Amino acid sequence: LPVLRQAIAEHLSGDGIPTQPQEILVTAGSQQATFLSLRGVVAAGDLTLVEDPSYRGGLEVLRTLGARIEGLRTTPKGLDLELLARAAARRPTALYCQTSIHNPTGQTMPARARAELAGLIADHAILTIEDCCSYDLTLQGPPAATLAGLVDPELLISVGTLSKLFWGGLRIGWVRASRSRIRQLLELRKVEDLATSVVDQLHAVRLLKRADRARRQRREMLNTHLSATEEAIRTHFPDWTWQAIKGGSGLWIDTHDDALALAETAKRAGVKLAPGPAFSPYDGHRSMLRLPVWHEAELLQRALHLTATAFRH
Ligand SMILES: Cc1ncc(COP(=O)(O)O)c(C=O)c1O
Repeated sequence: LPVLRQAIAEHLSGDGIPTQPQEILVTAGSQQATFLSLRGVVAAGDLTLVEDPSYRGGLEVLRTLGARIEGLRTTPKGLDLELLARAAARRPTALYCQTSIHNPTGQTMPARARAELAGLIADHAILTIEDCCSYDLTLQGPPAATLAGLVDPELLISVGTLSKLFWGGLRIGWVRASRSRIRQLLELRKVEDLATSVVDQLHAVRLLKRADRARRQRREMLNTHLSATEEAIRTHFPDWTWQAIKGGSGLWIDTHDDALALAETAKRAGVKLAPGPAFSPYDGHRSMLRLPVWHEAELLQRALHLTATAFRH
């Protein structure tokens, strides 16, 4: 609906990401936006660069497309830019990344590193798909910066969502890209889905008017639940360690153990955990675990208690 494209464009422009409605394609959540964006540019066998670890939904899309996925190590400052510069020489078709409130690490690239990344993207003309799903889930302060404004719009496709701010069940997301790219993706989208539910779109227009309030509430909830999560971990798994996050919906935890085995044990106790290899193109990060921080404290305490009990027997 034009009215929703307008509302999303205004919402992003308000965050310092100048956007025209014609640069927006509304999708059924950002998973569809990611799928369309990648499908629009990556064909089977194409070299595609990702962060390692990366969002597993993005990795699954790339595997489905038959891409040659190359994972680049991340540092506390985000994507390792030296590795990216070397990989760029092999002329990748695309880069899929998250520079702000990364899933699963919860980290945000410092401004200088993001600017350097933008420079590399420009120098090597790397078509970049930036997943901006969680950029506004900061623990403090305004939404985090993204690559928008730093990269030539012809080289950048960004995806976003209302799932994190409002509700994942709403299924409203978007692609933000140049007008010509949006026209190309609209044609691709028609094949699998003629339109996003009009009722949901109208609802989204109304919700976006309350974005500021929703962000304040989310931030409060996130901080409260994060403290409760950290407390629950310290109680049940005092050996686990993690880096403080800048925001987002999960903690990237080093269990210093075999997280796959732990997840198997937890599963038998009725608890579903997300072990590190699911977030890696190479099944790496075997000791890592992504733990959601949005659960009610009691539920999380119970889940970790069950896991710890099962693991120690
Ligand atoms: C980084 C990232 N991208 C995409 C998605 C998909 O979200 P949705 O399809 O609900 O917008 C998620 C959801 O967890 C995510 O964390």
